[in-house]
Amino acid sequence: MAPVPKGGTIAVTGAAGFIGGWVVRRLLDKGYRVRACVRDPGDASKTAFLKAMPGFASGRLTLHAADLDQAGCFDAIFKGCNGVAHLSHLSGYLDQDAVRRVCEHVIGSIDASGSVTRVVVTSSIAAVISEMDLQELVRRPVLYEDRYPDQSNPRRTPERGQGYSMGKLVAEQAFAQAAQRSGTWDAITCCPGDNVGPIQSSHQQTGGPWQQLIAGMLKGSCPQTGVYRPWMTVDVRDDAECHIGLLESAEVKNGERYIAWSTDARRVEDLCADIDRLLPELGHDTPAVTDDFPERIRAREAEMRRIWAGCDLRNERIRALTGIVFRPLDESLRDCVESLLSVGQVVPRLRPGFSPFAPN
Ligand SMILES: NC(=O)c1ccc[n+]([C@@H]2O[C@H](COP(=O)([O-])OP(=O)(O)OC[C@H]3O[C@@H](n4cnc5c(N)ncnc54)[C@H](OP(=O)(O)O)[C@@H]3O)[C@@H](O)[C@H]2O)c1
Repeated sequence: MAPVPKGGTIAVTGAAGFIGGWVVRRLLDKGYRVRACVRDPGDASKTAFLKAMPGFASGRLTLHAADLDQAGCFDAIFKGCNGVAHLSHLSGYLDQDAVRRVCEHVIGSIDASGSVTRVVVTSSIAAVISEMDLQELVRRPVLYEDRYPDQSNPRRTPERGQGYSMGKLVAEQAFAQAAQRSGTWDAITCCPGDNVGPIQSSHQQTGGPWQQLIAGMLKGSCPQTGVYRPWMTVDVRDDAECHIGLLESAEVKNGERYIAWSTDARRVEDLCADIDRLLPELGHDTPAVTDDFPERIRAREAEMRRIWAGCDLRNERIRALTGIVFRPLDESLRDCVESLLSVGQVVPRLRPGFSPFAPN
């Protein structure tokens, strides 16, 4: 199906979110018309940053109210759009039937639009790598687009924490199948890694969860990451570029997935200490990492770290398609910290007696 025309009209769901906000900004930068979908356009705490974008003043950016939980929620918004970047989270991922229903709401509006030809569905690397049994990562350590978590494991249930990964796969399949049926649009999946980078609005400091964890580090807390997984990062601005590249590409095919990550993986303890390395002027008091996992998990720390070190998460498919050169994590982390301080007004914990350089 056709890619979106340059300067065409794109609807972005989850537009007030961390990634969605950057997709909106970069689409405007590139000359597109954008319909930003949020639940409450009147909620200034979430939408003021969108309304401050230059395209809003001219009407090239418009804001629209839509709640995914309502059937037909996007009917009027998608009419006349060329593409949809579907970044929104759902209200929850525990109930997989509810996930399916919500997908049908969005799909119904795409089918009814009569104009949309390309949809980019935001999934996650969780839909590639999330395993109930970590030994599965030993058996199949190459983490690429055609790899799926072991769906046959009976312990892979929402109740055991796999709802997000399962729900993302439900969505990927629902969109690809609906697009196939329609014959008028196609659905391409983007699987981003752990997004780090600048927030554009204060409310985004509580999302993520990665920027929220960095805000916590600034304030003095650094919990160990689940199953000792290193952060597998992508800059949020690069993630936005990947989404736009998938909207624009004439080469992608319905149902394809693209992993968006930089290849910059880092242990949480190193990342936390890197705040001081990158911004020594700040005087950040690097907190110790806390590990509240039960003893049976802590006993397996070395083994789990070895398993992750043996994994090979790939990104060549998106690089070949879009030509993107990913930013290094150092740049993403520095910009994330500075935005948390300036936009998010986070008050950092500084080393005792440290007096930050006071600019004139
Ligand atoms: N952040 C990451 O590192 C990461 C990594 C991989 C994949 N992803 C995926 O990328 C997407 C965006 O993530 P993000 O970090 O940007 O999330 P975010 O900052 O939490 O933003 C998500 C947006 O989803 C919207 N939303 C939630 N429930 C909704 C509903 N019932 N109806 C309409 N909108 C609803 C929220 O809209 P309101 O403004 O109305 O609250 C919010 O702006 C998600 O699908 C996430 O799973 C994120």
